[in-house]
Amino acid sequence: MGGVAASARPLVTRFVYVNGRYLPYSQAAVHAEDRGFQFADAVYEVCEVKGGRLVDETGHMQRLARSLAELRISEPMARGAWSRVLRETIRRNRVTDGIVYLQVSRGAGPRDFLFPPAEARPTVVCLARSVSQRRLEAAADAGIAVKTVPDPRWARCDIKTVMLLPASLAREAARAEGAREAWFVDADGFVTEGAASNAWIVDSAGRLITRAVDNRILRGVTRTTLIDVLKREAIELVERAFTVDEARTAREAFITSATNTVMPVVRIDGRPVGNGAPGILTQRLRSEFHASAELAES
Ligand code: PDD
Repeated sequence: MGGVAASARPLVTRFVYVNGRYLPYSQAAVHAEDRGFQFADAVYEVCEVKGGRLVDETGHMQRLARSLAELRISEPMARGAWSRVLRETIRRNRVTDGIVYLQVSRGAGPRDFLFPPAEARPTVVCLARSVSQRRLEAAADAGIAVKTVPDPRWARCDIKTVMLLPASLAREAARAEGAREAWFVDADGFVTEGAASNAWIVDSAGRLITRAVDNRILRGVTRTTLIDVLKREAIELVERAFTVDEARTAREAFITSATNTVMPVVRIDGRPVGNGAPGILTQRLRSEFHASAELAES
């Protein structure tokens, strides 16, 4: 066996794509001097797989291309090749409902703060795993709790890097208080986004409010698709930052991400949002989401 300990949960990932090869999970490794490991010099994407279909592949691949360009990491393969890798990884892992994850680092080389020479090859990893739809739906039926924490992240959160230690620490702090997600709050008291999701509220007039995209948050692909739903349904959207107090007194609240689609938030820092149950509009948007998303054969 390789160096990866089997987790207590059932191990559903069977094969991992690493630099052109589909390796058994226990042997899926990258170099010790990979820049993703030493410098978090890597970007990633997570796409939902729903009913055997890849959700919003185009949006995710466009964002990947942007993240790579922002960091001047060369594109490791063309779109058609990506498409084949994603599908083959999903197939080999027999995923019908779950996620496919891909990561690209700048590559491996002797540790140096400066970039390696231009010919250095990016490291590419792709893995897929099933996600229990029963558990996800149970969470959506009950709604989730969030905990607010100060946002300590850098000023380029618009790039989807693997620099996820603040998110990991925030999620741990949330879990310690029985919350499933953390909401980062900026120095002025405004919610930026979730540890791994975008944050939304519904005000007393039924308007949706979510922070406008800038360098402080990630432009969620789920967020973009949901905005299409809102346009179609003529639901008013206000793209502006909201405070924690506003969120606490909002009629409804929810998060969006590829791993949750639209997930109701029913408690913030231990206090109920609205009547403490998933909001009507939130539930409606959750049920309508996939009708607006791009669903491609996987
Ligand atoms: N995270 N904001 C942050 C900081 C995120 O990490 C994510 C997604 C989002 C939502 O983006 P999207 O709708 O494209 O998934 C917003 C993924 C799911 C993760 O890290 O697992």
